[in-house]
Amino acid sequence: MKKRCDKLIAKLREKNIDAAIITSPVNRRYFSGFTGSNGVVIVTENGRVLLTDFRYTIQANQQCAGVCEVRQVNRGIGSGDVEEVLKEFDAKRVAYEDAALTVAEFNMFKSMPFELLPESKLISDCRIVKDAAEIAELQKAQNVADAAFAEVLKHVKVGMTEIELRNEFDYLIRKFGGDDNSFDTIVGSGPNGALCHAYPGPRKIQNGDFVVMDFGARVNGYCSDMTRTVFVGQPDARMRAAYETLREANERVEAAIKPGVTGAQMHQMAEDALAAGGFAGKMGHGLGHGVGIDIHEEPVLSPRNKEPLVPGNVVTVEPGIYLEGDFGMRLEDFGVVTETGFQVFTQSTHDMVII
Ligand code: GLY
Ligand code: MN
Ligand code: MN
Repeated sequence: MKKRCDKLIAKLREKNIDAAIITSPVNRRYFSGFTGSNGVVIVTENGRVLLTDFRYTIQANQQCAGVCEVRQVNRGIGSGDVEEVLKEFDAKRVAYEDAALTVAEFNMFKSMPFELLPESKLISDCRIVKDAAEIAELQKAQNVADAAFAEVLKHVKVGMTEIELRNEFDYLIRKFGGDDNSFDTIVGSGPNGALCHAYPGPRKIQNGDFVVMDFGARVNGYCSDMTRTVFVGQPDARMRAAYETLREANERVEAAIKPGVTGAQMHQMAEDALAAGGFAGKMGHGLGHGVGIDIHEEPVLSPRNKEPLVPGNVVTVEPGIYLEGDFGMRLEDFGVVTETGFQVFTQSTHDMVII
């Protein structure tokens, strides 16, 4: 974590910025290790401080040891507390997280006698390349999700509702070692699968349904994200062909990811594979996104990312086909860009699972 602060300071220095005020829970955790609900991390070349209140002082001292000094303030951390630290460290130009402050919080900070610079992107971009410890946590989070999927397959059957299936996942994710879900589990059966982020409802699984299941675990703060689409009953030739097209889109991209390719190129590769199978324009969303402490972070695999991927980027690959009133399907893995390619964390099969 000390190295993470060093990385931030190097980026700040390039822009002649003296300090950063870190207020978002994810970045607070990333730069200091602190997981409590109330705190401000102040990073400068001359010192690093976490301001928090009495409830968290013991915890913060444990979590931030060797990274930053913990100072106890009143529960409502005010601009006066922050100002005192910034003055002590002689900061004048100060970065803040413009994407993570309420207007009221911003107005409070604005009253301080410093030049405030909106630098959310600079601060969050420090997380875009994962270190070895983070990669290990992400793999652990995925292992929990893979285990939950293997177990859930024993329970899926005709007549089960989407809600019941969701409840199984949510129990199993904790049973297999997840601290929590990394996001609300998505289950979409039959035509509901065409709603990319279907909220599980009372619909009962029927013969002839594809069932889309998108879920993940959070372990030590790190998220996993996977989707599998299983078939209940006997798939006809059209269903099989659709699934094979989806699989081709996923696997072509996973084989192609390496340093230097762009998110836009990978997105287009998936679109081309889907179009070749007769599903042009049926994906509708970006092919993938970064995953870390946040379930959705940079870099993305989408037309808007023209930047080359680099080793340490962690991304999902999640092509989908969505046919309103008919069915939907998605096949989502995630993994890390290596020096030579893409190491997929997800171990569950790509074969069509037929129940
Ligand atoms: N779990 C939401 C997504 O795949 O982006
Ligand atoms: Mn997902
Ligand atoms: Mn995803």
